[in-house]
Amino acid sequence: MGWKGRDIISIREFSRKDIDEVLKRSSKMDKKHNKSLVGKKLSAIFFEPSTRTRLSFETAMHNLGGEVIGFNESKGTSVEKGESLVDTVKIVERYSDCIVMRNPLEGSARLAAETSSIPVINAGDGSNQHPTQTFLDLYCIKKNFGKIEGLKIGLVGDLKYGRTAHSLALGLSHYVDSLRLISPQNLSMPPHISKEISSRTKLDERTDLKLEGLDVVYMTRIQKERFPDVEEYEKTKGVYVLTKERAAKINGIVMHPLPRVDEISPEVDSLKQAKYFEQAACGIPVRMAILEMVMKG
Ligand code: CP
Repeated sequence: MGWKGRDIISIREFSRKDIDEVLKRSSKMDKKHNKSLVGKKLSAIFFEPSTRTRLSFETAMHNLGGEVIGFNESKGTSVEKGESLVDTVKIVERYSDCIVMRNPLEGSARLAAETSSIPVINAGDGSNQHPTQTFLDLYCIKKNFGKIEGLKIGLVGDLKYGRTAHSLALGLSHYVDSLRLISPQNLSMPPHISKEISSRTKLDERTDLKLEGLDVVYMTRIQKERFPDVEEYEKTKGVYVLTKERAAKINGIVMHPLPRVDEISPEVDSLKQAKYFEQAACGIPVRMAILEMVMKG
């Protein structure tokens, strides 16, 4: 499948070969790039808060000479007057060459892609998927280890509602023989995703914070905003905290898609294991590569 005009909705739609190609193009962008998107416009339509995804997409577009239009919340847009997502997409596709969208509703990115004649990039649809986060996570892992194959990787925290964990686990299953999934019982990986991953990779699902033997500890935030019942969140918050003492014993790296709340102590930031800020920086070359691929091929 060609890249020009391609939607980026779910990591499921990308083969190992596709992912490798994105990582290769990202590495090239990291070294050298030109103004390949002069004259192109990106619509960044964010119906949910974001710092990293929105700003790194904007930076990526500017770095390539393109322009960005959009909004950061539905307040102030005609959504407030009752305009549907489909109509909003039909408008912004007439103003731009690509849409990047974050929306709290699962499946909204797919609907936008089915509506739009220009490529749609899913910047997070509810608890479902966050595919460009996975590309940058894999890029960060490869940058640190020179490979992804054979690494021992553990995903920790809210694996039920965490879209970055869903996408990453699926992406990693193309590369690793086994994957450790650490979550409280009530926040375990949804069975339909575990089933899909376990067809390619052995899963070690557990509730204790066993980090021994891991090359990558991928911490995640408990997704307070996704809980239907705030009392349920209160019972679970703070369940795993990576302290400095604990992190210093890790023979590998600590990653986190961010934002963090209390699951990584700030004292961990000064350790050599802490790679989460470097990880966020990987969003720029990776999103530059993706934008160029879907708009230019
Ligand atoms: N990792 C991530 O999606 O961060 P933002 O919510 O700040 O975009």
